[in-house]
Amino acid sequence: MNPDSYLRQLRQSIDEKLASILPKESPIAEPMLEAMRYAVLGGGKRIRPLLTCTVCSALEGGFENALLPGCAIEFIHAYSLIHDDLPAMDDDDLRHGRPSTHKKFGEAIAILAGDSLHSLAFQSIVRAPDISEDTKVKAISALAEAAGWRGMSGGQCLDINSEGRRLSIDQLRSLHVAKTGALIRTSFQIGALCAGEDEDSRNFQVLTEVGGNIGLAFQIVDDILDVTSDSETLGKPSQSDNEAEKNTFPKLMGIEKSQEEANELLTSSLQLLCDSGIENSTLASLLQQTVHRKN
Ligand code: IPE
Ligand code: IPE
Ligand code: MG
Ligand code: MG
Ligand code: MG
Repeated sequence: MNPDSYLRQLRQSIDEKLASILPKESPIAEPMLEAMRYAVLGGGKRIRPLLTCTVCSALEGGFENALLPGCAIEFIHAYSLIHDDLPAMDDDDLRHGRPSTHKKFGEAIAILAGDSLHSLAFQSIVRAPDISEDTKVKAISALAEAAGWRGMSGGQCLDINSEGRRLSIDQLRSLHVAKTGALIRTSFQIGALCAGEDEDSRNFQVLTEVGGNIGLAFQIVDDILDVTSDSETLGKPSQSDNEAEKNTFPKLMGIEKSQEEANELLTSSLQLLCDSGIENSTLASLLQQTVHRKN
């Protein structure tokens, strides 16, 4: 099967799995459940679970083994977007082409939906079939590291705290590596763990490096699209970074240089995979789509 059709089918399997894990009924928390489903099922490219499943397959593991852990990463990502859009953070009213979760359900329910997606993520790894308890513990630890104070939420803290003041390009790189890079990097790591790789294996280390590069490139491209694209294509407000006086790659080094850095990170990642013998056309195609995307 060609990489594009394979990835389309895989995305469908991910969507079905996400829909089946999300709770549907609760005698105590009906609106919050609705908000959780709205935030997760309302759209999104599913880049992170696609990476987890594709990495697992590239290492000869069945993609099914990585499906629940991949969904776990998507739950953390969806919660991070709900909170990112809140008035206290980026104050954005549009996500996936429709009202942000707090616009639809109110701030309190949106915050709680984010909290519950965070818990559901870890529970989803615990419930993953066909992977060992040891692998689950390692995956939970990797996800906690990536989501927490040294990863996504730490990066979000620096992002918010540096609005209106200029960071150096190295500081901005560290910000992006944490707020976005960490979850993407762990998508690679958890895919490798689900394929049975040890954390000290050469494959695990290579994929960690590639994941770090692609994670940084992903946020550079997000910054570029905020300036060069429009809200309809993005499904979220364009020009939002400028209005919030964010530090971004285009602001600090210009659009062209930013694009060059993203391209270089992609090229060196593809090379690294080749040199390490992890040659897989679906993974290569997914990395290309991740960096050369329109939204
Ligand atoms: C948007 O991530 C936020 C960033 C970390 C840059 P995505 O572009 O992966 O969001 P969806 O899930 O596809 O909407
Ligand atoms: C968000 O970065 C990164 C997260 C951890 C959610 P942005 O604030 O640039 O993401 P968008 O542009 O709102 O999707
Ligand atoms: Mg933000
Ligand atoms: Mg934002
Ligand atoms: Mg952005």
